[in-house]
Amino acid sequence: MRYTIENKQPLPQEYCDLRKVAGLSPKTLEAAEISLPRSLFAVTIRDGERLIGMGRVIGDLGCFVQIVDIAVHPDFQGQKLGRVIMEHVMEFVKTECHRCAFVNLFADVGFLYQKFGFVNSVKSQGMYLDWSKV
Ligand SMILES: CC(C)(COP(=O)(O)OP(=O)(O)OC[C@H]1O[C@@H](n2cnc3c(N)ncnc32)[C@H](O)[C@@H]1OP(=O)(O)O)[C@@H](O)C(=O)NCCC(=O)NCCS
Repeated sequence: MRYTIENKQPLPQEYCDLRKVAGLSPKTLEAAEISLPRSLFAVTIRDGERLIGMGRVIGDLGCFVQIVDIAVHPDFQGQKLGRVIMEHVMEFVKTECHRCAFVNLFADVGFLYQKFGFVNSVKSQGMYLDWSKV
């Protein structure tokens, strides 16, 4: 592979930029600075210095774990980089998380996750806080 893959956090600004260009909901620099150091795990893919892909795991390792920020820059999509990111994420999950852990994600694209063992929730409905209501 001609790209550099590292198990480390991206910088807050490049994280914000990648989320935006990949079409994920935008995050402020301040939020990213709070969030990134609290990750359990992160993987980045770089083309030279440029961040072109990432994935992150958050949670408590034992009971609840969430996979977030799976993103590949549009110029580099379709080259199996999303799969590589998920392989690194799942290696961490399988080796570091307790088998009791409820490992979950909000999937915008189911095709990427089903092959790694994720299934649709049938019992519970995913919900999130609408900040305008509180
Ligand atoms: C989703 C995303 C991370 C995938 O990254 P990618 O590098 O383009 O994906 P890959 O090339 O690694 O493809 C991964 C697999 O999905 C398949 N795939 C890709 N696009 C597909 C599509 N539209 N429909 C069905 N399968 C698809 C590939 O064939 C590949 O399968 P394989 O590993 O069995 O061969 C990337 O498109 C992205 O960043 N999208 C915008 C942000 C986003 O939606 N993130 C997910 C939030 S939950």
